[in-house]
Amino acid sequence: MPISHPGHTVQVDLQERSYPIYIDHGLLQNAELLRRHIPGTQVLVVTNETLAPLYLERACTALAEFDLDRIILPDGEQHKTLETATRVYDALIDRGFNRSATLVGLGGGVVGDITGFVAATYQRGVHFIQIPTTLLALVDSAVGGKTGVNHPRGKNMIGAFHQPRCVLADTDTLETLPEREFRAGIAEVIKYGLIQDYAFFQWLERHLAQVLARDAAALTYIIEQSCRNKAYLVAADERESGQRALLNLGHTFGHAIETATSYREWLHGEAVAVGMCMAAHLSTAMGWMTSKAYERTQSLIEAAGLPVLAPRLAPAELRRIMAIDKKASRGRLRLVLLEGIGSALVTEEFDDAALTATLERFTAAADAE
Ligand code: NAD
Ligand code: GLY
Repeated sequence: MPISHPGHTVQVDLQERSYPIYIDHGLLQNAELLRRHIPGTQVLVVTNETLAPLYLERACTALAEFDLDRIILPDGEQHKTLETATRVYDALIDRGFNRSATLVGLGGGVVGDITGFVAATYQRGVHFIQIPTTLLALVDSAVGGKTGVNHPRGKNMIGAFHQPRCVLADTDTLETLPEREFRAGIAEVIKYGLIQDYAFFQWLERHLAQVLARDAAALTYIIEQSCRNKAYLVAADERESGQRALLNLGHTFGHAIETATSYREWLHGEAVAVGMCMAAHLSTAMGWMTSKAYERTQSLIEAAGLPVLAPRLAPAELRRIMAIDKKASRGRLRLVLLEGIGSALVTEEFDDAALTATLERFTAAADAE
């Protein structure tokens, strides 16, 4: 039987753990593609209560020839816990899944992170496949093998690196994604342009309207380009001992905003969007980035419908939270900053007074709104 290849495939090069990211519409119906990456007979599809009515039947039809089971988890970041993971372990044990089983995570970053974590740990590791359904998951969380759950005292505190056998990025799933979630995902897309891909940043400036209209070709392009950028960094530094940390541009500022607002008001991508503006502002104050480049950064983020100001928070409180962020090293805060659009660095060598001025500028401007 001829094998059908989706139009766009990005390879994550990790020697024996290398895998493809397939990007196209209609992939959920492509049974052959899934079959190719499932070595055993037992398959458990993990999804949530929002996605089950939308895509579970389609996935199960494609997997019909396997000894197939499913589990539907509650929706929400508050359920990304060891308790929820235990529900999946229980299902695997109850149903007699063995070490050659494959778990399929069908959902956004929450479902993907939980599924990957269970796959990393059940019987010391079983196979898994990512079928991401949010823009954030398609361009970021489904790629690179970071898996995990939250602890009451910190996000993603319990986890493992465990690479999927493939990522099936079916752009059709974006049709049902709520607008706010879609725009939050665009923050991570812009991030790739800022950290290492100037041409992609320029393309986004020119074609943002098509992206926001969810034009099929534009979506395929931004997912492919984002995955290429992420795959490059993951292949260079799988366990984040260096270069992979560039993916955290805006995240230290963003996490502080999310923490200070108790993870209730801001989506992750929205906090990262402001965080990238703050990183660009500080980089400009350090003389590393031009004012023009800073303005372009802020304009693109704003045009994507993302926030460019922090909420009303005390700058000292944000600074305190940033200091306990896991990226602080030996007591000295480490940040991802910019040398221009398309060039980032991880550094401790920024001026503290300039950081304070950035925090004051972004929170005070919110006060003036
Ligand atoms: P999410 O998984 O909570 O999904 C957001 C919401 O959209 C949920 O309510 C979900 O049910 C719904 N949804 C998902 N797909 C849909 C679709 N196609 N149609 C309609 N509704 C849909 O959030 P997210 O933004 O995808 O992921 C955030 C999580 O990802 C966080 O836990 C974060 O820590 C994690 N993350 C992980 C990595 C990594 O490398 N592993 C990277 C970035 C973020
Ligand atoms: N989202 C950050 C990483 O995968 O490293």
